[in-house]
Amino acid sequence: MGKDVIVACDFKSAEDTFAFLDKFTGRKPFVKIGMELFYAEGPEIVREIKRRGHKIFLDLKLHDIPNTVKKAMSVLRNLDVDITNLHAAGTRPMMEAAIEGLTREDGSRPLLIAVTQLTSTDQETMERDLLIEKPIDEVVMHYAKSAKEAGLDGVVCSPLEAEKVHNVCGREFLTVTPGVRFADGDVGDQKRVMTPAAAKAIGSDYIVVGRPITAAGDPVAAYERCVSEFVD
Ligand code: C5P
Repeated sequence: MGKDVIVACDFKSAEDTFAFLDKFTGRKPFVKIGMELFYAEGPEIVREIKRRGHKIFLDLKLHDIPNTVKKAMSVLRNLDVDITNLHAAGTRPMMEAAIEGLTREDGSRPLLIAVTQLTSTDQETMERDLLIEKPIDEVVMHYAKSAKEAGLDGVVCSPLEAEKVHNVCGREFLTVTPGVRFADGDVGDQKRVMTPAAAKAIGSDYIVVGRPITAAGDPVAAYERCVSEFVD
């Protein structure tokens, strides 16, 4: 898969999601389904979006003992999503078990990427609540390396970290980066942001874009603008 724009469908119901997706009569965007929509609507929402011809990043961020994650992944593999994820903090045995669970009998599997440190965790909270006293940058790169060694395909990270992740883990290791805003757009609650063009220049493989598209007056135009800045 090449570079692409992933639209974060952070909606509360199937109805709201389809009202949004129905606007896309041309190119079908790659969509991200998160916990809110998945817990509200269950696996059927994934099947229906897939039936409509979209690629899907199922963002459920699994984190449990290896056996539980393996079994959960072996259920998710049947949903035929394109990308799914877990927390690297679950450690390498959990990540290896996840790959085993996700791999189908024919050897194929969705791409599996890891969350390193959440962007809501900063140096201070990491030291205070997690008792991790290394620089956060070093922790993120260590988790990325660990994910790579476990056989994962990439990480979710800030676009500001994408270049370094590629330097540490190789160009083929995918960086999926939220925190994207248009140069003339609202930043909202995102703190460290980058434009689609800057994310492209720095080597992000996929950008995850929510409100700049979902809350735009013309979501299709906003999506096309993202694609033209990031992909074309
Ligand atoms: O609306 P916005 O463009 O900020 O949406 C970004 C999406 O990426 C949301 O679904 C958010 O939960 C997700 N995300 C993020 N930062 C992370 C990981 C995921 O913004 N570190």
